[in-house]
Amino acid sequence: MGRQVSALVIGCGISGLACAIRLQAAGHRVVIRARELPPATTSDVAAALWYPYRCAPKEKALPWSKATFDELMRQHAAGVPGVIPTTFIELFDHDAPAPWWAEAAGGVERCVGEDLPPGYVVGYAATVPVIETPLYLPYLVRRFEAGGGVIVAGEVRSLAEACADCALVINCAGLGARELAGDPEVFPIQGQVVRVTNPGARRALTDDQGPRRISYTIPRQADVILGGTALPNASDTTPDATTTATILRNCRALEPALAAAEVLEARVGLRPGRAAIRLERERLGASVVIHNYGHGGAGFTLAWGCADEVCRLAGDAA
Ligand code: BEZ
Repeated sequence: MGRQVSALVIGCGISGLACAIRLQAAGHRVVIRARELPPATTSDVAAALWYPYRCAPKEKALPWSKATFDELMRQHAAGVPGVIPTTFIELFDHDAPAPWWAEAAGGVERCVGEDLPPGYVVGYAATVPVIETPLYLPYLVRRFEAGGGVIVAGEVRSLAEACADCALVINCAGLGARELAGDPEVFPIQGQVVRVTNPGARRALTDDQGPRRISYTIPRQADVILGGTALPNASDTTPDATTTATILRNCRALEPALAAAEVLEARVGLRPGRAAIRLERERLGASVVIHNYGHGGAGFTLAWGCADEVCRLAGDAA
């Protein structure tokens, strides 16, 4: 890789693409290098509803989520493919306060009674972006490449190797950051989803703590993503037939419109878990590395806010 490249982004999921596009807009000549490229990244499997799920710390996740919410709504208004504002209700089987993320979504509405599926006491509703990953990730790739960006398939074996090539390295390796950054705090959180036809489901529903925990149904234009599971430290990516049946049963109980839905596929992804997101700058010899990983189940919810922060740190580093 020539010295004319001014930033190397490791990872081509949503975090890597958002950082690469922001750095490009700031004037960098950017190369993305990644072991997996769309459509084979963890982001491609994600149930990409804007929802700050399994990410911490909240005081940082909140402004990053809000910045991402605002950016996704701007992108929708600008006609970006695959960003669909959708009614979303977080369900509770007990009286519960408004969720911690409410402010980032511009507020929530308290729902009770017949607005909710049977068995729930309260729900909090907001209009949030749903990301259709098969449309949105290719769009980001096209946008990056149209701006002169280059995407290279291949593993980066070490940060030292990356720094030998480039003075600014952005580590968006997701689960791969465990080896790349030598960070034992990174762990997989296995999640299975089932993609079904959409016979008319219009709203997204989640039950993360109630009788069907964890269940979610996320409608897209032509299909619905149903979930799910969240098994820490499980790293098998083979879908399990019993889990598929449980997901279908739970989600049909949440959303009667799914009674006629047909199964298209089941997929398993490994969320990049970490007790706290790592977004910080480190000097390695003559180069600067900005780490941006550990987003749990909230990669799409945090991506643009975190990318803005990466750009700020890169500016500081200049
Ligand atoms: C998940 O990680 O499974 C997830 C993330 C956001 C919304 C729903 C599910």
